[in-house]
Amino acid sequence: MNSNKNKQITIIGLGYVGLPLALLAEKKGYEVIGIDTDSKKIKLINDKISPFEDEKITNQLKNSSIVATDDLTKIKDSSIIIICVPTPVYENHIPNLEPVKGACNSVAPFIQKGQLVILESTVNPGVSEDTVLPILEEKSGLKCGEDFYLAHCPERINPGDEKWNVENINRVVGAFCKQGLEKAVAFYKTILSGKIKLMNSLKEAEAVKVVENSFRDINIAFVNELAMSFSRLNIDIVNVIEGAATKPFAFMPHFPGCGVGGHCIPVDPYYLIEYAKKSGFDHDFLSLARRINIKMPSFTAKQAMLELNKINIPINNAKVVVLGLSYKPNIDDCRESPSFEIIKALERYGANIVTYDPFVLDKSTAKNLDEALKNAKAVIIATSHDAFTRLTLNDFIKNGVGVVIDGRNCLSKDDFIKSEVAYKGIGR
Ligand SMILES: NC(=O)c1ccc[n+]([C@@H]2O[C@H](COP(=O)([O-])OP(=O)(O)OC[C@H]3O[C@@H](n4cnc5c(N)ncnc54)[C@H](O)[C@@H]3O)[C@@H](O)[C@H]2O)c1
Repeated sequence: MNSNKNKQITIIGLGYVGLPLALLAEKKGYEVIGIDTDSKKIKLINDKISPFEDEKITNQLKNSSIVATDDLTKIKDSSIIIICVPTPVYENHIPNLEPVKGACNSVAPFIQKGQLVILESTVNPGVSEDTVLPILEEKSGLKCGEDFYLAHCPERINPGDEKWNVENINRVVGAFCKQGLEKAVAFYKTILSGKIKLMNSLKEAEAVKVVENSFRDINIAFVNELAMSFSRLNIDIVNVIEGAATKPFAFMPHFPGCGVGGHCIPVDPYYLIEYAKKSGFDHDFLSLARRINIKMPSFTAKQAMLELNKINIPINNAKVVVLGLSYKPNIDDCRESPSFEIIKALERYGANIVTYDPFVLDKSTAKNLDEALKNAKAVIIATSHDAFTRLTLNDFIKNGVGVVIDGRNCLSKDDFIKSEVAYKGIGR
């Protein structure tokens, strides 16, 4: 018999994090209430349609009984409330905690004694205790650690990842008090196959996630800087990294590209940078990594301009195609995608820009790959969707393409040697 049966949980925020979690909890026997502020998303989920492109979620939803709603009174019967709302930054890179505050403000009046609230959104150290807890206590009139419990378990899901998913990835959990920690760990044990590491505090758990994503941002910035340098030195960065990676210890390969996108890597470091700044500490390393990675889209657009120049085609008015709008392969998530910065840089050059992405089709994009490529002077591959990595030299030749800028180093450079199509990768 399933011991989770008849146990209700509520998930606040049914996005890339909240929806897979809701479906997992349902699979493990929980009755799941999903709360969201987006009425279109609520309707889609209740109609059993995934609000975003994801084959697994699409299939799981078909057989799901999850109720999506904006009715917060529903949470009264839940033993656990899990907050999975966005944590973006403003244009000036200052963290925007409004969605987290909004979720806490709306949940708090309905909190019941004994309930556990878990924040899964990525936040800087201190947010759970300094922002979430006071709102929950004030609006509920209840005391954390006595009447209700608060934990933080940062989500690590990597949408589109074939190997690691919401169920099997290891997690860390921190809580305000021992009882809250025990309750949170007991819950995650019922749904996860991955290991769970107990942290000493909410702050430690919060720090884990921003450190992980800052680590990745810094490593990518390192190879992006090498790519920009090696591009002038005429050294193939990809071959060098693959060479370095033959060392069996102390080297972890990261590869350069036309920019870092998504809701996490280009955003989360700012949460730590800004938090530390308030205590008088400047994270020079993290800030530099951000500055380097932000340069990559304009560096990429410049490669197109320079390569066109070499074949006597001015970029002004030339048809330049940007292939890929989402920030990573085979998904439709365009958040913080470098493609849009590449487009802005190309606009400054006066290029006649055409975009195409099989996962992001709208009136402004080409309808298909053939239409996009036809008579293009230059093509920039900004996302390594399967449809683009399959492109061959002949596809470019037959459409009269003169320059290919491989922003993801996903094509075979050797195929272009001695051909009439100029190839330039990022650092190769
Ligand atoms: N996307 C990822 O790959 C990923 C991975 C790990 C962690 N995270 C973190 O998880 C959190 C959520 O990210 P996401 O990608 O799922 O975001 P998302 O934008 O896909 O989904 C968030 C959902 O929350 C809803 N929402 C916003 N404010 C609300 C409120 N006050 N009440 C109820 N619903 C509200 C939105 O309508 C949206 O549907 C972020 O902190 C993010 O950094 C994301």
